Amino acid sequence: MNRIIILVSLCFLFVGNVFAQSASVAAAHPLAVDVVESILKKGGNAYDAAVAAHFSLAVVLPRAGNIGGGGFAVIHTSNAEAATLDFREIAPLAASKDMFIRYENDNSSLTSKLASGVPGSVKGMWDLYIRYGSRNLSWSDLLTPAIMLADTGFFVTKKLSEELNYNSSDFISQNPNGCGPFCKGFIWEQGMRLVQSELAETLKGIRDIGPNYFYYGPVAKQLVEQNYFTMLDMASYQIRWRKPLIGEYMGWEVITMPPPSSGGVALLQLLCGSERDLNTMQELESVASYHDFTELTRIVYEDRARHLGDPDYMNTTTADLLDTSYLYKRFANIDPKRAGKSPNLAVPLSEESSETTHFSILDKDGNSVAITTTLNASYGSKRWVSGFFMNNEMDDFSISPGVPNQFGLIGFEANSIEPSKRMLSSMTPTILVKGDQKVVLGTPGGSTIITNVFHVIRRFCRFGQTLQESVNSKKVHAQAWPEVLYLEEGSYTKKVLRKLKKKGHKIEFKKQIGRFQAVSNGTIAPDLLRTGDSSGRVIFY
Ligand code: GLY
Repeated sequence: MNRIIILVSLCFLFVGNVFAQSASVAAAHPLAVDVVESILKKGGNAYDAAVAAHFSLAVVLPRAGNIGGGGFAVIHTSNAEAATLDFREIAPLAASKDMFIRYENDNSSLTSKLASGVPGSVKGMWDLYIRYGSRNLSWSDLLTPAIMLADTGFFVTKKLSEELNYNSSDFISQNPNGCGPFCKGFIWEQGMRLVQSELAETLKGIRDIGPNYFYYGPVAKQLVEQNYFTMLDMASYQIRWRKPLIGEYMGWEVITMPPPSSGGVALLQLLCGSERDLNTMQELESVASYHDFTELTRIVYEDRARHLGDPDYMNTTTADLLDTSYLYKRFANIDPKRAGKSPNLAVPLSEESSETTHFSILDKDGNSVAITTTLNASYGSKRWVSGFFMNNEMDDFSISPGVPNQFGLIGFEANSIEPSKRMLSSMTPTILVKGDQKVVLGTPGGSTIITNVFHVIRRFCRFGQTLQESVNSKKVHAQAWPEVLYLEEGSYTKKVLRKLKKKGHKIEFKKQIGRFQAVSNGTIAPDLLRTGDSSGRVIFY
C-alpha cells in the first residue's frame, strides 16, 4: 500500500514538474514555433516570445502574419492579471461613411489603396513588450529572428509555394512598381528560398529606432508618398488596453476579447444559449444540436450586426448584450421544430476567406497569451510597401448599411466608417482558466472564427474531449445571413442531413473551417488536419 502511495505521489510530482517546467506553443508555421522556443530558452517570457513570433510570422507567413495589419492579444499572467491589447487598424482621417458606396459594385474596399486602415501591429508589439516583456531580452533581441529570416531567407513550404503562384498575377497587377520577390514571376516550388531584403531593412529600422521608424520615419513617409495615408494618420495611431470580457462556463473562467471585436460578446452569448433551459444541444453532431446552434447564431449575429463596432461609437454596452434576462428572452423564441427566419437584411454571402492567423503561448511560469492578427484577406490588398503587404481591413466596416462584406457580414451605424474609428472584427483570441490550468486558443476564419471557438470550448469543457480532439473535430457554422448552415466535410451523416433539411435548413458544405491553434499546460493542439503549416511544441527549459 505504502509503495502505491509513494508511486502515486511521485507521479504527481513528475506531472506537476512537467507543468511547472514546460512551455507550450502552437502557431501557423514551424519557424515561428522555433522562434518562440529560442526566445524562451534565452530567458524571455511568453510576451517576449509573442512579440518575436509576431514579427517572424510577418516574414514566413506573408498572407496573414504582418506589420501592415493589426490584431488582438488576450493575456493572463502568472499572477492572474487578465488584460487585452487592441492593436486593430483605424480608419484614416480622410475616411467617410460613404467612401465606398459609389464603388458598391466593385472591390475598392478590398483592393484599392483606400482599402487599408492605419496598421497597428508595430505599436501593438512595442506596447506588449513594454508592459509585459521580461526585460531579460531587449527589443532588438526580439526583432533579430525575423530579420534573419527575411535577410537570409527560408525554405518555402508547399502551401506557401502554391499561394505565391496562385497570387502572382494579382501581386504584379497591384504593384506596377514591383513587389520585390513576390513580383519576380518565378514559378515557386517547395524548398525554394524566399529572401525579403526590403522587409529586412524595414525590420532593422524598427529594431534600431522602435515604432517611430514605422509611424513617423521612413515607412510613414513611403505610405504618404504612395497616397495611403497622411503623416498625421500615421502619427496619431494608438493601441488600446481594454478590460477583457470574462464569463464562466463549466467551472472555467473564459477570458476573451471585447469590442471592437464581436468575437467575445458572440462567444459568451453562444455559450449562454447552449446551456439555457430547453436547449437541445445535449448531444454532439445531432440534428437537434445543429438545429439549436443555427437558431442561436441567428440571434447572436443579429446582435453583432445591430449593436457592435468600435466601443467609442456603440450605443449598447457589452453588459446589456450579455445580460442573461435579455438573452433568455431572445432565445425563448427559438422553435425546436422548424428553422427560423433571419430579419430581412441581407444579400448573398461572398466568398469566405479563411486567412488571418492565430498563435497561442503558455510559458513555464504560467504567463499566457493568445494573439489573432490579420491583413484581413489573404495578403490583404496585395499591395506591397517597404517590403510588406498592406491590409484591406476597411472592408470590415459596414460599407453601406445592409451590404455584406467579404465574409457576408452585415453591420449598421455602430460599425459605419468614421475617421480614426476601429472596424468591427470577428477575431476571438481566448484564454480559459481553472485554478492552475490554462487553455490558450484561437483560430483564423473570418466570420467562422466565433463559432469555431465556441465548438472547441464546448467540446473540451462540456464533453470532456481532449484539446486535440476538440480542435480536430469537424465544425459547423451559421451566421444568420445568408440563411445557411455550413457543414464541414465529415461533420454529418446522410440521416442528419436529411432531417436538417426537413426542418427547413438550407445546407452548404465547406471543405475546411478554420485552422485552430490551442495549447494548455504541458499540451499542444495545433490544427494539423486542416491544410496549412500549423505546428506546435512542448518546450522543456
Ligand atoms: N478581418 C477579419 C476579422 O477581423 O475578423
